[in-house]
Amino acid sequence: MRKRLPAYSYIEIALTGRTSERAAYTEALRFFADRGFDGSHPATFHFKGRFKVAVYTRSPAKVSSLRRDFRCLRGSGLRCKTKVLHREDWFDKWQKGYRPTPLGRRFIAVPVPAKRKKIDKRIPIYLDPKGAFGSGMHETTQLMVRVMEQLGGKFESFLDVGIGTGVLSVVAVRLGATRVAGLDHDAASVTSARYNLKLNACKPAFIRRLDIGALKAVPRFDLVGANLLSSTLTAARRKLERLIGKGKYLAVSGILLRNLKGFRRDFASPSLRCLKTFRGRQWCAILYRRK
Ligand SMILES: C[S@@+](CC[C@H](N)C(=O)[O-])C[C@H]1O[C@@H](n2cnc3c(N)ncnc32)[C@H](O)[C@@H]1O
Repeated sequence: MRKRLPAYSYIEIALTGRTSERAAYTEALRFFADRGFDGSHPATFHFKGRFKVAVYTRSPAKVSSLRRDFRCLRGSGLRCKTKVLHREDWFDKWQKGYRPTPLGRRFIAVPVPAKRKKIDKRIPIYLDPKGAFGSGMHETTQLMVRVMEQLGGKFESFLDVGIGTGVLSVVAVRLGATRVAGLDHDAASVTSARYNLKLNACKPAFIRRLDIGALKAVPRFDLVGANLLSSTLTAARRKLERLIGKGKYLAVSGILLRNLKGFRRDFASPSLRCLKTFRGRQWCAILYRRK
């Protein structure tokens, strides 16, 4: 039987090679992009004349499939290495560098444990990520908060698809939503979101561990927010559409600026009208309205 990975541990799958071999570097990026790891998701490192392109997962099956696929790259000058990163390797180090971070125009993400003092005039969102995505520092989260601020007052219910730490759900409540709910396929994210919503005195209707692809009928929402990989968004478009009430909103984030044109083409639907694209330095978010 396969041993279970301890909580907050990840498996790193890295392709390494010589920095001077540009073709091998491009090949490594393409290898992961072709398998659904696009944008900034492969982490890249350069050190002492060598590069490393790495992705992180908790799924041993994914690791086996990547290793199998790597066989076709033999002779490319790349090496494939895997290692398990335990919490103390990355999480505690990261946590030390986590500082209060302005979020949109009105909010500030405040790491906990930290003194719960009022920090400037912004509304605090207290967060203990516990290893989940959504510290407030990533541009994709920041863009989503900008979209939500612009819609403030126009939505009473919010569904957080890929809830991570729950940061967007707390923002939704502070903007006046009275019914918030969320889902995430990652168990650690569900734990983190439940913890953080409670920390901010927010009561969600539900937070479920679920893949968006497996979601069955739920009541419709005024705003559905999905900060996911663009490939996941495209695959889930029909599902997402069905979750929004008529005349209501869908906000998607996690789209690289360089993929924007292709994304808009692939995501296009007769029942969705694109209202606005919010551009960041590397990423963008798009607000749609259901016709
Ligand atoms: C980029 S993070 C967004 C977290 C947070 N909502 C934010 O905006 O900062 C994406 C989240 O979606 C989850 N996720 C990715 N693919 C998913 C899927 N197919 N179904 C459900 N959750 C998914 C991930 O586990 C992760 O927590």
